[in-house]
Amino acid sequence: MARVRFLFVLLVLFVGSVQAGPPKAAIASAHPLATEAGFEVLERGGNAFDAAVAVSAALAVVEPYSSGIGGGGFWLLHRASDDRDVMIDGREVAPLAAHRDMYLDDKGEVVRTRSMDGPLAAGIPGEPAALAHIAGQYGRLPMEMSMGPAIRHAGQGFEVTPHYRRMARFRRDVLREFPAAATFLTDDEVPPLGYRIRQPELARTLTSIAKSEAESFYRGELAAALVADVREAGGIWTLEDLENYRVIERAPIRGRYRGLDVISAAPPSSGGVALVTMLNILSGYDLSGLQPARRTHLIVEAMRRAYRDRAEYLGDPDFVEMPLARLTDPDYAAGLRAAIHPEKATPSAMLPGFTHASTGRDTTHFSILDTDGNYVAATLSINYPFGSGFLSKRTGVLLNDEMDDFSAKPGVPNAYGLVGAEANAIASGKRPLSSMSPTFVRNADRIAVLGTPGGSRIITMVLLGILEFAEGKDPEAWISRPRFHHQYLPDRVFHEPEAFSTTTLQALEEMGHTLEASERTWGNMQGLVWDRRGKRVEAASDPRGEGAAVAR
Ligand code: DON
Repeated sequence: MARVRFLFVLLVLFVGSVQAGPPKAAIASAHPLATEAGFEVLERGGNAFDAAVAVSAALAVVEPYSSGIGGGGFWLLHRASDDRDVMIDGREVAPLAAHRDMYLDDKGEVVRTRSMDGPLAAGIPGEPAALAHIAGQYGRLPMEMSMGPAIRHAGQGFEVTPHYRRMARFRRDVLREFPAAATFLTDDEVPPLGYRIRQPELARTLTSIAKSEAESFYRGELAAALVADVREAGGIWTLEDLENYRVIERAPIRGRYRGLDVISAAPPSSGGVALVTMLNILSGYDLSGLQPARRTHLIVEAMRRAYRDRAEYLGDPDFVEMPLARLTDPDYAAGLRAAIHPEKATPSAMLPGFTHASTGRDTTHFSILDTDGNYVAATLSINYPFGSGFLSKRTGVLLNDEMDDFSAKPGVPNAYGLVGAEANAIASGKRPLSSMSPTFVRNADRIAVLGTPGGSRIITMVLLGILEFAEGKDPEAWISRPRFHHQYLPDRVFHEPEAFSTTTLQALEEMGHTLEASERTWGNMQGLVWDRRGKRVEAASDPRGEGAAVAR
């Protein structure tokens, strides 16, 4: 009897230890001030969801080139109390006056500047609505408190960093075009390191959003000011567009890989579906036992096939029917796997043709865990660096150019070289297809929370991260690993400068792959792991960026 009681006590202790919350909270984001904003809110009694509001709002101020109040994103939430996973879809929508040929000239050619620069390129922002929804439904604190740090940074300014300068140099011409955007320059030039960017109008706007729980942005005085600024500069927004905006809760996409549950973004992101297809294909191989060239070859073939399906099928679920059950079914992947030659590249042209997709250069991701075991992965965007370059002077809101994520014309690649089909054609009120892939990967012992910016390359970066997490590597290792990417078209394996040894490069070429070394590295991954059994929390921020990962 005593023995039974002893075993029972041991069992209770064991279950208790597994179910206990993490020993530390952790936040990884692309900017040290945003990571601190999150901790400030946790320390004032907020949970991971309040911290997500704080980090999102802070990033909107201190990374004006990446995401913002004038943009949107996907927030993947896990609530510990009822074990709920949910995706908050705060993606931009096309204005009511948008139509499928709006970026074509008289000859039917795409005029890229129209879908990328200025107010015509901007979808109706979802971030204010999403933050109000997260705070109201999942948070514990009033928005005024969670947005406090962001409001402070907007008023007091933040310092220009090397990354800021790179982004501003890249978009200098378009920032010069719209007078209000001078906020981001000094005398029309890229500001020097350490210069302080102050955004007083944005501070007022953020305060109004916080006080009204975003109501003023969609129906009140901010709405009127935004529409006036947009229309004066040739845009097509109306008050009705803002009034109609709805944030949507969606069930995430789920898959399995080597005993791990993978939970990721649902359409209108293509991320979760493509990840699950790739992981299903790769489940059939023992990747860790393979030489680098063979391993890379198989991963590339999985990427090629999943991106082909992305281009063909995916779009806004409220507008298009998608064969999601098939695309995420292990048997479908087994069929794709069967057609992969173990040692020869399949030219993309040999895959079934598609009726003709789209995607980024700057965007941002953060990952948060609180000590109750709630966690958040969020990828947010205004698309191109500094979005459309158009700053509304009355409100200080920089507008996105997410309309370029639509397929402006079937088969014509967008800014990220992605092609798309009918499923992603422009229509009023529709959400453009995205690659943003905030993701959780977990089993009973370990939970990873990850994601990254990087346009069309987001999904393959997250894939490489998951594969290494599955092999037991820590976040530092999977975040710093060299990257490679294939997106079906163009039919090329892109890789970071140091990704492969000469022997591996040669072996891949012999298998029929065309390789292209990029001049620069890519991505800015922010991830964390909660090891429940080992009672450890580790967070890591991509060494390629300027972010900060803290566990405390
Ligand atoms: O939603 C998308 O897929 C794009 N707007 C993301 C752009 C992006 O990640 C740019 N990043 N470096």
